[in-house]
Amino acid sequence: MTFSPERIVRQHIQPVARYAPGVSPIDDPAAVRLDWNESPFGLSPKAREAHDAYRSGNRYPAIDQHDLIAALANYIGTSPDRVIAGAGLDDVFTTLAIATINPGDEVIISNPTFGVYRGLFELHGARVLDVPLGPAPDFALDVDGIIAAANGRTKLVIVCNPNNPTGTLYSRDDIARIIENVDCLVAIDEAYAEFSGVSHLDLANQYPNVILFRTLSKFAGLAGYRVGYGIFPEALMPWIRRAAPAFFNISAISAAVAMASLQDLDHLRANVDTLVGERGRVTAELNALPGVVAYDSAANFVLFSLPVENSRPITDYLEAHKVYVRRYGGALGNCLRASVGLPEENTTFLDALGEALASLSTPLMSNTPTGARA
Ligand SMILES: Cc1ncc(COP(=O)(O)O)c(C=O)c1O
Repeated sequence: MTFSPERIVRQHIQPVARYAPGVSPIDDPAAVRLDWNESPFGLSPKAREAHDAYRSGNRYPAIDQHDLIAALANYIGTSPDRVIAGAGLDDVFTTLAIATINPGDEVIISNPTFGVYRGLFELHGARVLDVPLGPAPDFALDVDGIIAAANGRTKLVIVCNPNNPTGTLYSRDDIARIIENVDCLVAIDEAYAEFSGVSHLDLANQYPNVILFRTLSKFAGLAGYRVGYGIFPEALMPWIRRAAPAFFNISAISAAVAMASLQDLDHLRANVDTLVGERGRVTAELNALPGVVAYDSAANFVLFSLPVENSRPITDYLEAHKVYVRRYGGALGNCLRASVGLPEENTTFLDALGEALASLSTPLMSNTPTGARA
């Protein structure tokens, strides 16, 4: 018997790169984990209560997650008929891909952006085209480039707003111009919208080709519970529902915690205010470090460039001091991204970064703004 995995595995999957960023410790209380854009806050009081009161793990969740969908729709201010959920946004992307992508269809992204898009849509047979952002510090969307790249095979343009990892908030006019000038879906990923205070639900209401992606992972601090959702054009919903997994892949306890969180919005908004305040402090203190340039961010993280060609020795130093941030290759090879954590975590990070820079044996290079093109 000869068993060949390569013969069994679908051919277009074989070259797809795995999404595999480094892993920092989750449960080490001494670790300052700023590499995953998580909320540093625990569950809100009502969510904690719902979590602790949960007793029905032997029962399936409601098949259509009716109550959760209603709560999400109410939070966003839209009709439940336009909302589907998933075990995190990645799961909602998968539902969209199942419903829309034939092998060879095209998806347009703008790098540097969220690393999951490429691999996930490639797994479904899409050709993912990159129309890169402009250079730092603006990281502008190349609106004309996106419109020119869209063609009869293009199914989807993804606009990440605010963008991960740059933190950039694109202008409404730029996004609207893309929507008006392509004959395909335009998905606006608003995973960090609560930190920018900007959502384009109005565009999703106005145009028939717009999807909004939202998640409870970031502002609501439910990354581990995995609850993301999308607001879809009504005309697409019958197919999106068909492609979605039973229960939307959301466990009953996650649904219960999510609904309770949405009853605790004052608490969550106060957490967001704290992080937005800390984002300003972190940005200012990074810019005060010699040779460091922090880019304005509308999200719960800050991207900054360092006066080095390769950030590895810096992250080695930080990790030796149990501080974890995200490192990049390519055009962002001299950049790091740090989530905004609790005030004391941010202080630990800023102190450690200052020490790391001071400890570099090579003289500091002068810092030039980073181009976004790899
Ligand atoms: C832009 C963007 N979209 C989606 C996600 C994934 O969110 P979820 O935890 O809901 O899968 C992330 C996570 O970092 C993100 O940065």
